[in-house]
Amino acid sequence: MKIGFFSDLHCGREEITNNNRYPSRSLGKLQKLLLDFENIGVDLAICLGDVINGSTSKADDIEHLSRVAKVIRDSSVPVLVMQGNHDFKNLDDDTFYRISDFVRPPFVCRADEVNLIFLDANYSSDGTRYGSGVKYNWKDTYIPKDQIEALREVLATSPEGSRFWILCHQCLDIGVEERHIVNNADEVLEIIGTEGRDKVEFVICGHYHPGAYSIDIGREFVTLPAVCTGKEFNPNAALILDTSHTPNFRG
Ligand SMILES: [Fe+2]
Repeated sequence: MKIGFFSDLHCGREEITNNNRYPSRSLGKLQKLLLDFENIGVDLAICLGDVINGSTSKADDIEHLSRVAKVIRDSSVPVLVMQGNHDFKNLDDDTFYRISDFVRPPFVCRADEVNLIFLDANYSSDGTRYGSGVKYNWKDTYIPKDQIEALREVLATSPEGSRFWILCHQCLDIGVEERHIVNNADEVLEIIGTEGRDKVEFVICGHYHPGAYSIDIGREFVTLPAVCTGKEFNPNAALILDTSHTPNFRG
């Protein structure tokens, strides 16, 4: 089974923001990316968040979210959509999924022999959910205790030989720029190194737009380059993994 990952569309009205983001071009890039996925035979696609750039207007955000939703609906590849910090600028959880009709990822789901775990770090360190009306700072990103404990439980109780890929919008690779890293990434890494030893194969994130790759505690950490970067569609912004792939640490 082939799974395609992409992140950080930042769809919006602007031609260019932050020097190299092209929000108005992201929709066209998404169409190309999903067409590539169809041609390659990707069975499931996963968007790791920051679907919209977020503006000062809720109506604007709903409009751009709806446009993305239509492109995703028109594709024959099923797409699971996670949320990123930008998706909460004007929208709460329910509005985001109700307007778009996106499939909301569960905490854990099975894809062939691999278990995908979706961690949601769209919380401030005091546990406040982004989009709940309280102003949030994108650098204050935190995975709440219930998810940390669920991660430990799922990994600890899974039989020997179980395979896991962990997904999160914000970064768990401690090699990237510090302000992009989840505040309590060390708790996740500790679990991966203990209960997740010999089980967690990949940790895949978005959020840090240049992207990154590293091997740490024997796992492969992939940070996806943002789709919104640059004027032209960059096919290398997408990652396609086959569930039959043998990770480096298994030899
Ligand atoms: Fe982000």
